[in-house]
Amino acid sequence: MRTKRSDRISPTAHYTGAVWVRNNLSDPRLETRMGRSLYHALKPLNAAARLARQPNLEGLLLARHGILDRMLEDAIKQGDIQQVVEIGAGLSGRGWRLSRRYRRKLTYVETDLPGMTHRKRKLLVAQGALPKRHRVEPLDALAEDGPASLRHVVSQLDRDKGLCIITEGLLNYFDQASVETLWRRIADCLAGFPKGLYLSDLHVGSEQPLAAGTAFRVMLGTMLRSGIHFHYRQASEAESALTHAGFSQAAVSSAADHLAPKDSQLEPSARIVRIVRAVR
Ligand SMILES: C[S@@+](CC[C@H](N)C(=O)[O-])C[C@H]1O[C@@H](n2cnc3c(N)ncnc32)[C@H](O)[C@@H]1O
Repeated sequence: MRTKRSDRISPTAHYTGAVWVRNNLSDPRLETRMGRSLYHALKPLNAAARLARQPNLEGLLLARHGILDRMLEDAIKQGDIQQVVEIGAGLSGRGWRLSRRYRRKLTYVETDLPGMTHRKRKLLVAQGALPKRHRVEPLDALAEDGPASLRHVVSQLDRDKGLCIITEGLLNYFDQASVETLWRRIADCLAGFPKGLYLSDLHVGSEQPLAAGTAFRVMLGTMLRSGIHFHYRQASEAESALTHAGFSQAAVSSAADHLAPKDSQLEPSARIVRIVRAVR
């Protein structure tokens, strides 16, 4: 996957977009032709791994996505969060779903590199105008300043309302220095709001998915052209890095610990992904 400004959209973003659609978590128009092909190509491997109670890519994605949804919705329902910025939102349906569910209560800014935001805006607008509080804007997670920076996007939000920043499926494509710079930038931005929450997924080295079985390795190999980084051996190291970056509380827990009972079939996949929940 390219992490620089680019019009090229990564296969992983196409694939995850199709997974959300196929599991009723998104609008069918956010499924691209490439996403559909990848979904069908990986379906037998996912099914075989699921039958053998082994980790699989679709299970991993559904586990992390559902847990991040639930944590965000809990914070919205508690009245802590009224604004969301999602970085690297890709073809995720979360912004689309939640801005319809919480119409007047929530401002949702989905962001990604310009090629992706251009495409996503077109797909969403084809379903009718976006609601006023749902925006799709370009943002480069690696930009320190300028119009494509997090600082700039956040400067347009209401300082009297709580803000949640989300990264999903993004961190493990960046090297450790870039992740920690991004975490500092996120913590700095959240500091200007009455409530500041950061949610993400993260893979840590001690649970490397590459060690999780042949089927899983084949699936990842199909999806990833560039390297994937495992920055921390243990979750505790990631928690220390988050507090060092400026968060007052940080938990990096196994997704398996947060699964709803109805999702127990996702447990083998959930065991190899961590959920980051940090408060500024
Ligand atoms: C694996 S996809 C995940 C998309 C989405 N979060 C999801 O879970 O469906 C990773 C996304 O990160 C985006 N991305 C890559 N580098 C980025 C950067 N430097 N700044 C912002 N987004 C980036 C890609 O364009 C892609 O849409």
